[in-house]
Amino acid sequence: MSDEKPRTRARRGSKMRRRLSGLLALGVALVAVGGLYTVLTPKPDVAQAADPAIVREGQQLYDNSCITCHGTNLQGVQGRGPSLIGVGEASVYYQVSTGRMPLAAQGAAAERKPPRFDEAQIDALGAFVQSNGGGPVVPAVENGEQLRGEDVGRGGELFRLNCASCHNFTGRGGALSQGKFAPVLDPASETQIYAAMLSGPANMPTFADTQLSPEEKRDIIGYIKSVSSNNTGVNPGGNGLGGFGPVPEGIVAFFVGIAALIGISLWIGSRQ
Ligand code: HEC
Ligand code: HEC
Repeated sequence: MSDEKPRTRARRGSKMRRRLSGLLALGVALVAVGGLYTVLTPKPDVAQAADPAIVREGQQLYDNSCITCHGTNLQGVQGRGPSLIGVGEASVYYQVSTGRMPLAAQGAAAERKPPRFDEAQIDALGAFVQSNGGGPVVPAVENGEQLRGEDVGRGGELFRLNCASCHNFTGRGGALSQGKFAPVLDPASETQIYAAMLSGPANMPTFADTQLSPEEKRDIIGYIKSVSSNNTGVNPGGNGLGGFGPVPEGIVAFFVGIAALIGISLWIGSRQ
């Protein structure tokens, strides 16, 4: 038995394997470069794509309406308003589109009001702030596309874990300590909910993408929209009790049960 054949075959095999692994390495490198490219290249959002004209328009609006409280270089003004450096377009979108900013007066509470600026102006303000220190950006939605995820079940679970302690189980809002309160979520648009999570306004914590991935944020939005009163679509249980879900149902059962017990003991008492 000559061992010539197997050796050549082995040699050919190893050459083949080397070529294959070379190809594989090339493939891996290409994928890595591609991945890095998509990760590192700026997303085509308002802020990055913003041409200087939009930033300038934003600066003009800022100089007219915001500068007294947030300062000439967005550094903030002691006792009037915080620094806006690095808060990002998301925070501006949240604050201005919900009408909270510009704050009406010194010391006024930042409450939801009809917005003072239109979408284009809000984008310009956002681009201006974004050009000063960057910060979180709400994903741009193409026409018709939504920020609403489809996994409402997972969204509900994440909502109960992360949001319900302040906003109540169905986003009906609730009181916090020191006279603060977490607002009802019904009026918030999908983009506003996303921006709120990214920017963490007032007492609300910030939910960076490392804490709640973009997909999880979308599912949470899907859940909020599914339980919000101006949405007659999905109703996750609790029918007939205003969609409030199992907790109030339990309370109703509890009170009905207690009432029945009281009734029975009164009846027994009256017979003695
Ligand atoms: C009368 C003073 C005043 C004016 C005018 C005003 N702000 Fe504010 N702004 C504040 C105060 C005070 C806060 C903090 C409020 C809070 O935490 O609830 C704030 C917070 C913000 C935040 C959130 C910052 C963060 O840390 O995320 C943004 C963004 C913002 N303002 C943008 C604007 C823009 C844009 C304008 C102009 C269109 C404006 N503000 C006008 C007083 C003002
Ligand atoms: C520690 C309490 C707390 C938690 C937890 C919390 N929030 Fe908030 N949230 C607040 C407060 C307080 C405000 C009002 C902020 C302001 O005045 O601008 C708010 C505002 C909002 C708004 C704006 C509503 C409006 O009026 O436009 C949205 C949307 C929102 N929260 C969503 C969420 C979501 C989603 C989560 C969970 C991922 C969450 N919040 C977790 C306290 C909380």
